Amino acid sequence: MITKEINFQQQELKGRDFLTLADYTPKEINYLLDLADYIKKQKQEGIAFEPLKGKTLGMIFEKSSTRTRVSFEAGIYQLGGLGIFLSSKDIQIGRGETISDTAQVLSGYLDGIMIRTFSQETVEELADKANIPVINGLTDLYHPCQVLADLQTIKEIKGKLGGTKVVYIGDGNNMAHSLMIGAAITGMELVVSAPEGYQPNPSVIEKATKLAAEHGAKVSIEVDPTVAVKDADVIYTDVWASMGQEEEQLKRELDFDGYQVNENLLASAKSDVTFMHCLPAHRGEEVSAEVIDGEHSVVFQQAENRLHAQKALMTALMG
Ligand code: CP
Ligand code: NVA
Repeated sequence: MITKEINFQQQELKGRDFLTLADYTPKEINYLLDLADYIKKQKQEGIAFEPLKGKTLGMIFEKSSTRTRVSFEAGIYQLGGLGIFLSSKDIQIGRGETISDTAQVLSGYLDGIMIRTFSQETVEELADKANIPVINGLTDLYHPCQVLADLQTIKEIKGKLGGTKVVYIGDGNNMAHSLMIGAAITGMELVVSAPEGYQPNPSVIEKATKLAAEHGAKVSIEVDPTVAVKDADVIYTDVWASMGQEEEQLKRELDFDGYQVNENLLASAKSDVTFMHCLPAHRGEEVSAEVIDGEHSVVFQQAENRLHAQKALMTALMG
């Protein structure tokens, strides 16, 4: 049903960067989600889909990764292209070569760059200086590729995005931020429940609130997790200490006491509530083993959808 409607030569997306979901319209996000569904179906039916023959994606990693690295590398290969893994330890960035010089050099070799790094400004500078698409594979501020796959997953399970109530429990981090933006654009209701001191970045709250008003969505903060999850369709959580915050682990375990997603908390949500987590997870901390390994959990469907959603993204930007 989707095949006829998909136009693979979407000129509006060709050559664009993907630094935050906030740069995309609802129409563009819906196009990417439809394309992701199409690509997933083709793969399930064993039909090759190779619009990126001869194209090369460079993948710069300044932090660890399982899902992002493997889904991008397998994804570009399945699309007919090649992925080159560039650990910041091995390339000259690690010895002080500037982002600007790196961007201009790589633009001469590649058709796209995916980067996972610390500061959002680094990704913005790379995108500014490169003349090929740059994809944000996670910064301290945002994780838009994860949320693109999460939107695909929520749509698969709930049949829609608009009107769905998603409650994010835990640290007001990069995942919370991208979920807030993603929900605001797609008409969902998103409640963030974080302890005092771990609320989302005020500038992201402001941006998401503005986008939500434009698109008939709702983004709010509720400190009490039991109140937040009332009537929730989806409960989402993430680690309490993100990459780069390892030294705060013990302090955070104390500060996040009462914010674990467990059977007790799920009992306050809708009976068909879906549990989501971007992974990697720490069982016994932000989520109990019963919940993440239980019947409400869709964490591996989410992880798989990283592949399909990012293949759609690369097709649209690099095709
Ligand atoms: N969810 C996610 O981005 O996982 P990785 O850190 O393994 O890439
Ligand atoms: N918030 C986590 C997400 C990992 C995919 C981190 O940044 O480490």
